[in-house]
Amino acid sequence: MNIQKFRIGKPFNTEAVILDFPIESAVPEYIRVDNEEGKIYISLPLDSQDIIYGLGEQMGGINKRGRKYRSFCSDDPYHTEEKEALYGAHNFFIISGKTTVGYFIDFPGQIHWDMGFMEEDKISITIDGTNADIYVISGNGENEIVKDFRTIIGTSYMPPMWAFGYQQSRWSYPDKNEINRIIEGYEKAGIPLDTVYLDIDYMDNFKDFTINQKAFPDFEKYVAELKEKGIRLIPIIDAGIKWEKGFDVYEEGAKNNYFCKDRKGNDFKAAVWPGICCFPDYLKADARRWFGDKFLTLTKKGIQGFWIDMNEPALFYSKEKYQEAVDYVKEYSGEDLNCWEFFSSRDKFTQLSNNNEDYKNMMHLDGTVCHYDVHNLYGYMMTKGVCESLPKDTLLFSRASYIGSHRYGGIWTGDNASWWSHILLNLRMLPSLNMCGYLYIGADCGGFNNNASRELLLRWMQLSVFTPLFRNHSALGTRSQEAFAFGNSEDFKKVIEVRYRLIPYLYSLVKKCAENNEMMFKPLGFEFKDKLSLECDDQLLIGDEIMIAPIYQQNKTGRTVYLPEEMTFVKLSGSDVTHKETLKKGIHYIDVAIDEVPFFVRKDKKVPLCNPAKNVDNLDITIAEYI
Ligand code: GLC
Repeated sequence: MNIQKFRIGKPFNTEAVILDFPIESAVPEYIRVDNEEGKIYISLPLDSQDIIYGLGEQMGGINKRGRKYRSFCSDDPYHTEEKEALYGAHNFFIISGKTTVGYFIDFPGQIHWDMGFMEEDKISITIDGTNADIYVISGNGENEIVKDFRTIIGTSYMPPMWAFGYQQSRWSYPDKNEINRIIEGYEKAGIPLDTVYLDIDYMDNFKDFTINQKAFPDFEKYVAELKEKGIRLIPIIDAGIKWEKGFDVYEEGAKNNYFCKDRKGNDFKAAVWPGICCFPDYLKADARRWFGDKFLTLTKKGIQGFWIDMNEPALFYSKEKYQEAVDYVKEYSGEDLNCWEFFSSRDKFTQLSNNNEDYKNMMHLDGTVCHYDVHNLYGYMMTKGVCESLPKDTLLFSRASYIGSHRYGGIWTGDNASWWSHILLNLRMLPSLNMCGYLYIGADCGGFNNNASRELLLRWMQLSVFTPLFRNHSALGTRSQEAFAFGNSEDFKKVIEVRYRLIPYLYSLVKKCAENNEMMFKPLGFEFKDKLSLECDDQLLIGDEIMIAPIYQQNKTGRTVYLPEEMTFVKLSGSDVTHKETLKKGIHYIDVAIDEVPFFVRKDKKVPLCNPAKNVDNLDITIAEYI
């Protein structure tokens, strides 16, 4: 490995890198520290042909060039084009061109990335702090650089095989009856199903580690009954603990000093779903262990998987800031506001959530470390704590993340929308997440916010069939989005069955990628250096065997595909192979019906298929045929 490590100041130990490196004696001149401003500036030249890959969970294309981004784990439910930060902070990128070099900035606070936006021929990075480790990785091409980077950050989390089955979620299935109705819907339609998710309403008043007894009278027995059928219930656990006298989890946390403090030394408080909450200090080993061990109350009831949420952390409001806003608008009570007064009054309220002043008032490690400076570690350290307590082979994935958390769980990409553009966003994020070690990944298939059409959900599934996490999830108030909820469900059955046929292949591939620090999803430009491959932004390579080119536009029955080499075009539908044809290198137009899953098998490669089943417990992974 050819890796240089530069240290500026005294960085906080993020545990992102697990190998020790000698520190270079001098920092290169493209890194400038401004102690007065409290910032580090990095400036890198870009050749006109250079491509920028990476940054993990981010908006934009596969090539990150020409945009601005921010690393700051953000609870932002509207992933519109101009957004600069989502839930993860993944500070690794590669400049690929005449020379190809990778950079990892190990810094737990905010970073601003101008990737050739203000000046086309320059990357300008601003780090909001003066302590950071910077790794520069030179290697023979993108794949080698990624492998070296993944080697230094440690082996990726690997979920159990049933977590590769089709999963159904919604905010919310609030009680047993509703869950039974969902499972019946799948059974009647003959559509495979492996899990059903419990969103916040399964709890008693959204309090972590409680169960609403009315909704689930004998939870343990119910979990066992479903498991008999091969279906697992996956509860959500949120980062904050309801501040409530007498609530045992709160009382234990408060008594043992497990919560983050405010600047005055009291437990820091802000509102999330349950109302005012305290926030376990996941940066403290004992608090982390305590919180992780709480999950055992649920695993003892037979639960085998969890999704952990709101861990950026999301703060709806703090009482202090809310009061400030109220006092501010009171001043104008009865007045005719001019436009600026109106906007500022309105903004006082819209800016309450996830406010930096609250993050600056939140303290870790007994008041010694300001949350704002280490913001991006919160979800990561929560994931670590939970993983370390859970039995082996438990499914775990998180919303917030920082490089390092890939060793402890997967991630889902948060509150997307039922928009066609979000199918493409989903596709584009897959390789950049893999670059940062996240292998068990997926988006809310069908979209979380807004209403999905039948066509959108089916087309989205034709992509999600290939993502390790294949979960249909939707928000409160949206139309039913289950695969049986759109009238004729035969098309859904056929598409989802293809997933089950691919499970032995997908599972082994993810395992191989975890063991060898490789990527499952690769941009075409990682393997082929012709212009069309380098610019391709809507197709991906999977492993060494497959290329996918899903349809992501409405009212299309086909699309144009670029083949960088000869490949076999295959379409599967249920147990049938509906199409198989060798296509030459070049541009082709392919037709894809709504009930087919299209993909391309690379030259001299084969993909194993088993027979479909109603869930993974019933899946015979013997190879039925090769395609
Ligand atoms: C957050 C999560 C979403 C969940 C909702 C309610 O918005 O991202 O997946 O359904 O909270 O818990």
